Amino acid sequence: MVFKLSVGLLALAASVSAASIKRVACPDGKHTATNAACCVFFSLADELQTNKFDSQCSEDAHEALRLTFHDAIGFTRSGGAKQGGGADGSVILFETTELMDPANNGIDDAIDNLKPLLQTFDVTAGDLVQFAGAVAVSNCPGAPRLEFLAGRPNATVPAALGLVPKPEDNVDKIFERVIDAGLTPTDLVHLLVSHTVARSDTLIDNRQAVPFDSTPFTFDTQVFLEVLLKGNETLPPSSGEGPAQVPNPLANQGAMRLQSDFAIAHNPLTACTWQEMINNQELMSANFRAGMAKLAVLGHDTRNLIDCSEAVPEPVPAVKKPATFPAGTSRALVQQSCPLPFPALKVDPGLPTTIPECIDGDTNINDCPS
Ligand code: HEM
Repeated sequence: MVFKLSVGLLALAASVSAASIKRVACPDGKHTATNAACCVFFSLADELQTNKFDSQCSEDAHEALRLTFHDAIGFTRSGGAKQGGGADGSVILFETTELMDPANNGIDDAIDNLKPLLQTFDVTAGDLVQFAGAVAVSNCPGAPRLEFLAGRPNATVPAALGLVPKPEDNVDKIFERVIDAGLTPTDLVHLLVSHTVARSDTLIDNRQAVPFDSTPFTFDTQVFLEVLLKGNETLPPSSGEGPAQVPNPLANQGAMRLQSDFAIAHNPLTACTWQEMINNQELMSANFRAGMAKLAVLGHDTRNLIDCSEAVPEPVPAVKKPATFPAGTSRALVQQSCPLPFPALKVDPGLPTTIPECIDGDTNINDCPS
């Protein structure tokens, strides 16, 4: 009874406070916002969806998501402000410098796509990068609706080269780097959920758009399973650099996996965080949302930012297909490093299928697996 009463009071208080927040009418005549500073982001979302992403989990959307990391991780707590300002748009404003970092190979497409928007929208480069990533990811079925805080000042210096992790880096070096930036190894696994909608254009000669899992346009948990499937490799060395990518049992079907993903999936610090997301869409989605909320504000005091999350579109719903072993693979191929029970999963029927190589991800997106 007491419980029911307090729940009722809480609900009433929430609705009264929601009703008492006065919304402002935006100049576009189409939207209202909780804060006038958010109005521009409604218009920017419309522009991104219509003219940049086609409201799809397209190649351009994948690249925009990747850019959020390459901008924000340029932050160091030990190296001083001149080393990098975090999520400050330096990757766009000082692209000539930052593109000299080999870890930034391939991000020029996203920069070329987004940078012109700075001419037409009154937003800072850091806000543009993080907002574009949040809008992009909303197009991927199963993704969470990301938080977006506005008000990052523009970068005044480029980030130092070498702050962005590379797939061939030793896992300890990667962990040290993210800790120096203010994240934990667990946060990193949460952020690596992004590799569920990822493909590589740069790592395999003569091949473009090589996916990291069999469903590169769906924000599902397949990547966490498929990275654990045994190929011909041995576990990566505990020190020194490895190759950028290690063989994947799906390789003959068109997929690849990063050495860094593989090493992080097997590291004692992170193996269980990795494994527990297999076939747990809700957990994966919540983890990614929390990880992105931290990443997006690296280098900033959130007390100086304004919550404009309302301008991020509602994401496309999940396809609700459980994780499955791709045809031709099975539980016997799982290389397990977490001692907790492995989830029971079905095997896709039929012969191994080939993942189509979508050379032009935007135009051929419908030919690719979803
Ligand atoms: C240890 C950390 C990470 C490493 C070493 C890494 C490395 C890579 C590499 C090598 C690629 C392929 C690029 C290409 O050849 O085109 C890639 C793709 C991608 N990464 Fe990461 N990544 C890391 C973390 C992240 C994080 C934290 C995010 C997002 C928050 C992210 C998002 C993406 C996305 C969306 C793609 C696909 C881009 C596309 O399809 O065009 N990555 N990553």
